[in-house]
Amino acid sequence: MSAICVIGTGYVGLVTGVCFADMGNTVHCLDINQERIINLQKGIMPIYEPGLEELVERNVAANRLFFTTDYSEALHNAEFAFIAVGTPSGVDGEADLSYVRDAAEKIAEVIDHPIIIVNKSTVPVGTGDWVADIIRKKRGKNTLEYYVVSNPEFLREGSAIHDFMQPDRVVLGSVHQKAAEAVAALYQPLRAPTLITDLRTAEMIKYASNAFLATRISFINEIANICDELGADVREVAQGMGLDKRIGHAFLDAGLGWGGSCFPKDVKALAHMAVLHGTHPQLLQAVMDINRNQRRRVVMKLRNLVGGSLVDKTIGILGLSFKPNTDDIREAPALEIIHLLRNEGGHVRAYDPQAMENTSKAIPELQLCTNPYEVAQDADGLILVTEWNEFKQLDFKRIYSIMRTPVLIDGRNQWDSQAMRKLGFTYFGIGQGNHVQAAE
Ligand code: NAD
Ligand code: UGA
Repeated sequence: MSAICVIGTGYVGLVTGVCFADMGNTVHCLDINQERIINLQKGIMPIYEPGLEELVERNVAANRLFFTTDYSEALHNAEFAFIAVGTPSGVDGEADLSYVRDAAEKIAEVIDHPIIIVNKSTVPVGTGDWVADIIRKKRGKNTLEYYVVSNPEFLREGSAIHDFMQPDRVVLGSVHQKAAEAVAALYQPLRAPTLITDLRTAEMIKYASNAFLATRISFINEIANICDELGADVREVAQGMGLDKRIGHAFLDAGLGWGGSCFPKDVKALAHMAVLHGTHPQLLQAVMDINRNQRRRVVMKLRNLVGGSLVDKTIGILGLSFKPNTDDIREAPALEIIHLLRNEGGHVRAYDPQAMENTSKAIPELQLCTNPYEVAQDADGLILVTEWNEFKQLDFKRIYSIMRTPVLIDGRNQWDSQAMRKLGFTYFGIGQGNHVQAAE
């Protein structure tokens, strides 16, 4: 059992803290956001993540999990300080490290015993050394025994607790083997394959993994667009490709492109790092371009299907979060699609099971509905943007009867195209050979 401090109580920090507490450690979760901490102390979650609330409740009750805004309190006795603060995109696409710097400085200010500092935030290659430097400079003559370990996190939102508790691998990087082994011991109950490497390699593994996953999605989206023109079905193409063990099935679902708080910022940050160091990241640029075009393409498609103009057309959006089972709307495809539709004079309304509160803060004037049928009422087009379970089996007869123009854009290939066409809808999926089918 260890004493752990986790700095930052967002998707990663909170899940990390709660999961380590559940494994029997004593964990202090710290955030500078006072409202967040007060709410957590009352059992109110700052994010929607399946299973999180129950786990928090259980570990608070067991006296293993604490929430505070006070660095001294959180770090008192801590053997490990996990930094899990945000690293959003800066103006040129670089990772903004100001929150990491603040956290490192605070650690240097208050700590009075040996400590292992674990970078769990996604940070550019070289940040581990930079953090070590910040602490050394801040301490000056008042030296401290500390070790920096990189421990990138690979959890996905919506299945964060499962991913943390059953990771495919644990990656650790440090110049201090003993420190890396001490962090590895924290994960030992999970029995996951563990790779211990140097700091910079561990940091790069995180970026390369996210960039590779984003690349697979952009690849299949490009194939989908070609399928549309040639009359092939990308869903079966992906299935056929995935049966090859060298390729596999994961991350080959064509759709509206990748969003979220990480792929967009991490691909951008990796490209930025590359340019900064004199290399030309051609593939990463293409991966980002394809992703951007995927949203534009769907709006163009809808425009064509409703008669060539979106002016004064009412368009319904099903799903606002960047993926199902989260309320996170950072870089969500829905936001850009809504923006494009409104720019062309369309009236947009939307519904999402969890992300409406966040969306109303981001787009206060957006008309939000209480269910999918209210979205469809008198609409000229309906776009499925996020494949929440509750959108999979709607009463399509009812939807057909209440829409003004029965045009369905299935941005996540969830609905049965034949059944939809049989009901009378004009249906467009992603990469389902739509052009050839429409012409037949
Ligand atoms: P988030 O924005 O949800 O949460 C960050 C939290 O850190 C906020 O609550 C903020 O108030 C707090 N914070 C900022 N500065 C602080 C400071 N100096 N001291 C204490 N708290 C501070 O972020 P997130 O989505 O959890 O991501 C955190 C990091 O993990 C990022 O680098 C991200 O790239 C990486 N990551 C995220 C995911 C994910 O699914 N969201 C997965 C893997 C890795
Ligand atoms: C992603 C990675 O999967 C995690 O391993 C990583 O830890 C995390 O980023 C991070 O660094 O923050 P996440 O963004 O939560 O996790 O969600 P994903 O399931 O990866 O989906 C990302 C986006 O890709 C979503 O918009 C999703 O709709 C899209 N996607 C995913 C597709 O369009 N097709 C697919 O086949 C898979």
